[in-house]
Amino acid sequence: MSIKRGPEFSRILGLGVARGETAVPNEDIIEPIDSSDEWIRKMTGIATRVRANSDTSVIDLAERAALEAIAKAGISADEVDTVILSTITYPHMTPGGAPVLADRLGIPAAAFDISAACAGYCYGIGQADALVRAGTARNVLVVGAEKMSDFVDPADRTISYLLGDAAGAVVIGASDTAGIGPTVWGSDGSGAKLIRQTASWLEVRDNPDVPFPTLFQEGPSVFKWASFKMAPIAREAIAAAGLTPDAISVFIPHQANVRIIDQLVKQIGLPDHVAVGKDIVDSGNTSAASIPLATERLLRDGDAKSGDLALQIGFGAGLVYAAQVIEIP
Ligand SMILES: CC(C)(COP(=O)(O)OP(=O)(O)OC[C@H]1O[C@@H](n2cnc3c(N)ncnc32)[C@H](O)[C@@H]1OP(=O)(O)O)[C@@H](O)C(=O)NCCC(=O)NCCS
Repeated sequence: MSIKRGPEFSRILGLGVARGETAVPNEDIIEPIDSSDEWIRKMTGIATRVRANSDTSVIDLAERAALEAIAKAGISADEVDTVILSTITYPHMTPGGAPVLADRLGIPAAAFDISAACAGYCYGIGQADALVRAGTARNVLVVGAEKMSDFVDPADRTISYLLGDAAGAVVIGASDTAGIGPTVWGSDGSGAKLIRQTASWLEVRDNPDVPFPTLFQEGPSVFKWASFKMAPIAREAIAAAGLTPDAISVFIPHQANVRIIDQLVKQIGLPDHVAVGKDIVDSGNTSAASIPLATERLLRDGDAKSGDLALQIGFGAGLVYAAQVIEIP
């Protein structure tokens, strides 16, 4: 039996994003949760979250981001042979959203979903890097897409006000130099209850009093876990890439909370020159889309440039996490 071998290195070839059409300010959502603009800004940093129109689906968002990423990569859609869709808000148990997305793009690519919540994008990058370097795939489209607003209860004060709708996509292919460092990833299922769907589909089926499931979190526990347990993972990803924090130019953490981001910068020991992604202020927490969105924002604002080394880390429901150093496309 013969086996395939791929190129030594992979990199991100192009990036695309699609934000929900409307920026919803804090004032518009505070009434049912008895909150205030001041409290939300102070506790999370969020001023507005982007939300998609009711007739925009999570696949619509994914398709928009994907088309931009493919164009920026300088390839045609039929050169993509693998589609990975990271999402927790595709509203079907089966089939997955990735084959539907591939069909929209008109390609017969291998296609599968990743359910790793806010770590889904970094999980996808790790998978794509491995698939390319193993010779299993040539060009992998990784899309983090969420329409979180379909699964929020506007009266839930634990999480509803944080969440936004968006998609971020990249194409990953062969490279002459190392463009994606080793992925450091893992999980802690003992924290599965900390961020969860309010009821299982079986509970909904069996009890007519159980309302449509939405998202819920135990905020203080999640805050402690993310702020303190994720810094060693990030440091491990830097070391695995053979680097020290001084070599990092950009930090792009999952956009969960500005206070978590600031705490991570401190705990990891990132130097002052590092540009830090804070797209959360305007876009909210868009789960699997948040890291590519923050990357696009850093590039647009001139705070990062092509070729910069960026540390990215995703973490969330599961609990799951993944980090890697990448070269900005
Ligand atoms: C959600 C979060 C902002 C809540 O802040 P907190 O200080 O931990 O909140 P607590 O639940 O301990 O409550 C503290 C106070 O705020 C109030 N409060 C809680 N949620 C509120 C809200 N949405 N609006 C206004 N007040 C709120 C509580 O009633 C409590 O008031 P009290 O002191 O008068 O009793 C914070 O826990 C957090 O950011 N967690 C991480 C969440 C996250 O990033 N999740 C995504 C990870 S992928």
